[in-house]
Amino acid sequence: MGTVAPRVESLASSGIKCIPKEYVRPEKELKSIGNVFEEEKKEGPEVPTIDLREIDSEDEVVRGKCRQKLKKAAEEWGVMNLVNHGIQDELIERVKKAGEEFFGLAVEEKEKYANDQESGKIQGYGSKLANNASGQLEWEDYFFHLVFPEDKRDLSIWPKKPDDYIEVTSEYAKRLRGLATKMLEALSIGLGLEGGRLEKEVGGMEELLLQLKINYYPICPQPELALGVEAHTDVSSLTFLLHNMVPGLQLFYQGQWFTAKCVPNSILMHIGDTIEILSNGKYKSILHRGLVNKEKVRISWAMFCEPPKEKIILQPLPELVTETEPARFPPRTFAQHIHHKLFRKDQEGLPN
Ligand SMILES: [Fe+2]
Repeated sequence: MGTVAPRVESLASSGIKCIPKEYVRPEKELKSIGNVFEEEKKEGPEVPTIDLREIDSEDEVVRGKCRQKLKKAAEEWGVMNLVNHGIQDELIERVKKAGEEFFGLAVEEKEKYANDQESGKIQGYGSKLANNASGQLEWEDYFFHLVFPEDKRDLSIWPKKPDDYIEVTSEYAKRLRGLATKMLEALSIGLGLEGGRLEKEVGGMEELLLQLKINYYPICPQPELALGVEAHTDVSSLTFLLHNMVPGLQLFYQGQWFTAKCVPNSILMHIGDTIEILSNGKYKSILHRGLVNKEKVRISWAMFCEPPKEKIILQPLPELVTETEPARFPPRTFAQHIHHKLFRKDQEGLPN
């Protein structure tokens, strides 16, 4: 018998003043959670912004400079805001509007798309299930589905409302797939490799899977006690993130949590564990988490570009392994990597 995950949206709209204990973070983690709007205003290190207008420049010097900036951001941060990324603002606005409209439907309506994690049906509408003894939960609901390659999609579970959801989401996925190729090329060159190398290593056009997760963070009556997403690094190769301009993303940089500022018309890109492993740690997969607030609903659209679960063994590329720089990661399939992380988290508890 499956456990029914509570919908955070229903909890939030029930008028409770105190959040259930499952959503309250452990004592030592609470110290670092503040008001996200105040956090956003604080001075501090800032996520690099990379202007991609010049990445395809005819001029080799101009092109090289742009690639160099991207490389530096990938090495030092593992996360960056991409501007002039080549995906039309109008398309992005439509993607956001479609997601907002879907989440604007009544919970009962969305339940028709509910996933069933325990039976392995991971696509659809869902909320986190407690996966450890503490029963810890996160303040969010989501919609998760595979959007590319097109022959691997299951359109029967895609939202039927709004009418243009399938059209705009498909178009966005196609465009992002192109951007992923471009980024993987620049990152390959940054490692001194041939341009198509990383793309090939993560599965290429046929096997790299784009999974879209729309994260819906309802207003929270006690935001200083909860997290929308707990601290983690992405397992993906790359993750591309859109949001509705409500702050929430925090990054763990130089030993401290700080809040990412919202950059208009940008796509935030994370280097995930997969690229960190292939690059033998040259590129970083940064620890991050999501705060919630009591004023505004936050929505984000995360596109995870994931290698196939079993087909590829992920390990540092041989060209990047030397006597002075031995392999920092053991060979693992993507599935084994995910399993290893879950196991380790159960063993050691969460980072704070
Ligand atoms: Fe993430």
